[in-house]
Amino acid sequence: MEYTIVENRYVGEDMYYMKIAGKFEAKMGQFFMLRAWDKYPLLSRPISIYNIDEEGISFLYKVVGEGTRILSNLEEGEGITLQGPYGNGFEKVEGKVALVGGGVGIAPLYMVAQNIEHCDCYLGFNKESIMTEDFEEVCDNVFTTVGDTFITDIINAEKYDYILACGPTPMMKKLISMTENTDTRIQVSLENRMACGVGACLVCTCKTNSGNKKTCKDGPVFWGEDVIL
Ligand code: FES
Repeated sequence: MEYTIVENRYVGEDMYYMKIAGKFEAKMGQFFMLRAWDKYPLLSRPISIYNIDEEGISFLYKVVGEGTRILSNLEEGEGITLQGPYGNGFEKVEGKVALVGGGVGIAPLYMVAQNIEHCDCYLGFNKESIMTEDFEEVCDNVFTTVGDTFITDIINAEKYDYILACGPTPMMKKLISMTENTDTRIQVSLENRMACGVGACLVCTCKTNSGNKKTCKDGPVFWGEDVIL
């Protein structure tokens, strides 16, 4: 379905914030397939939902290829096609909760933060911290790292009942290992490369303790004890 872009701006770290007008419903951690071109590039791009409010839906995305480059050049008033929401999303949890995001992995966590009553948030960046004011509004505490200090260096995982994370595979591997032999449970949203986004092409296959799964359809969120990274 075609919608209208109301905002599309650079926010730092090679990332853009795009807001699209319309009525949307989705679970935290789901994604939409975005498309603003006719034939080339062939595939729509899977982008995590940053937020949904009464005015529309917003996305935070990183320019990584031709599709996202075209998205970044779109202007207010231009049209865009959205399909979705797709994916399973994060399961809602209660207790002491930490959200951990690395790079563009911070994108799905803002909607999570709004849906969880109390949480601490840990955001890791390469060159500069971005979007932190948004998280400060909805989280109890926001901690950031930039550059050589990894976000995993400043987390005491055992302090939390649940960790909900999205970011590069090494970050999530480390977090899962930090929760092993503790009472802390972790959900990770995988950033596997996707093509069709709807379970038809198998490009996004990941390994779990119950066999191969499709990141786009069975995930992107998995419990840490189930997924094999
Ligand atoms: Fe095609 Fe997941 S992206 S099956």
